[in-house]
Amino acid sequence: MNKKYYIKTFGCQMNVYDSQRIANILEGLGYGQASTPRAADLIIFNTCHIREKAAEKVFSDLGRINLIKQERAAEGLDTIIGVVGCVVQAEDEEIAKRAPFVDFATGPLTYHRIPEILAKVSRRRGISIIDTDFPAVAKFDYLPENKASGGCSYLAVQEGCNNFCTYCVVPYTRGAEYSRPVGKVVEEARRLVETGSLEINLLGQNVNSYHGEDENGKERNLAYLLRRLAEIDGLKRIRYTTSYPADVDDDLIACHRDLDKLMPYLHLPIQSGSDRILKAMNRRHSLADYLKIVDKLKQANPAIGMSSDFIVGFPGETDQDFAATLDVVRKIEYIQAFSFKYSRRPGTPAAVMPMQVEEKVKKERLDILQDLLFSYQLKFNKQSVGKIMPVLFETKGRHSGQLIGRTPYMQNLHAELGKENLNKIVNIKVTEATTNSLSGKAA
Ligand code: SAH
Ligand code: SF4
Ligand code: F3S
Repeated sequence: MNKKYYIKTFGCQMNVYDSQRIANILEGLGYGQASTPRAADLIIFNTCHIREKAAEKVFSDLGRINLIKQERAAEGLDTIIGVVGCVVQAEDEEIAKRAPFVDFATGPLTYHRIPEILAKVSRRRGISIIDTDFPAVAKFDYLPENKASGGCSYLAVQEGCNNFCTYCVVPYTRGAEYSRPVGKVVEEARRLVETGSLEINLLGQNVNSYHGEDENGKERNLAYLLRRLAEIDGLKRIRYTTSYPADVDDDLIACHRDLDKLMPYLHLPIQSGSDRILKAMNRRHSLADYLKIVDKLKQANPAIGMSSDFIVGFPGETDQDFAATLDVVRKIEYIQAFSFKYSRRPGTPAAVMPMQVEEKVKKERLDILQDLLFSYQLKFNKQSVGKIMPVLFETKGRHSGQLIGRTPYMQNLHAELGKENLNKIVNIKVTEATTNSLSGKAA
């Protein structure tokens, strides 16, 4: 009988990429994709631990999945539940305690062992298997070949982080930095393009610290990798995320001048506009360093639009520090951004810092910051009205005859277009703009 899997993904783009690779593994084992968890023999949660809310959501959703497992059992159907990703690395014992119905759990660096784990699970039902190794061999080498699932693909080139920002769990959940060799990345990119990708988004927790070996064993930077990928015929758009400001070098900036395929959009998180807070966060850059980088990027490509992440209410953040954050937003006029209330993560240095900020203050600051960010986002979107933009259509809209795609600036755009335009780039004249999306017509 044909077994079915269902994967639910929480967290960042790296998890989206990992889930796709896990799906590749399962399809290799003969599993088909189920459209609901109720129809699945194997349910996998790919989890995120970045903020308390993200981790708690995993546990509450797991409770619901257990009910499905029981319903299926009443019909004589067996269900295997697996938890993978960053929560496993950080809270394996919590999972065993709070969700004993989970059959296996494996951390972000051990997905290639899933076939082995599944074989064991089906032999010894009821016994949980937890695997949180950081294996020396890179997981990527043991995963089956990736292929495009649409016009737009993620490609992990770097994983892990050595920065240890004092608020962040990622260095603990994803381990030390690792860069995939240039040849492997180029090979995977070619395959993604051959199978239908027009756009590739290179991923890494700290993607611009990339230092993979080339075919001659020489260490190469992200700029080199971007230039190599730009040579691939049929590849139309390249992006990379997430970059760390202190690791943006002149070579990378030059790519934004030289490579037409590199989209004029950069997500470069600053987190805070206050040097005092940046220092307490252990960020290796000052406000002035950051502004200088943005200046250079704008010189290299005046059309570039910036995006960022922000944390409000980091321990010790005063009204003055927060005002400095608002100032950066006014200076850079970000075209998009993500902003969060500081979340205390067990085991990180900031969690035990004195002068934790009250929840009420965090909430007030977040509201003020988001109002300001949204005002610039709306301003930028309004400026797009009347322009003709190449849009890569990725999904069907809510109404029939409507498609949703992305502009070079990552804006969502809705257009009345036939589904033959799916996974294609179409020139669109923008007719309307709101804070979160654009609408337009074929130009
Ligand atoms: N590697 C990326 C981002 C990783 S996590 C970088 O360095 O920029 C994504 C975002 O989550 C971070 O940029 C940060 O803004 C936010 N974040 C991380 N830990 C957090 C915490 N403890 N509380 C609130 N936000 C956090
Ligand atoms: Fe976390 Fe900082 Fe590393 Fe980003 S650079 S993943 S915020 S430790
Ligand atoms: Fe979350 Fe892990 Fe990504 S903690 S943000 S899924 S690296």
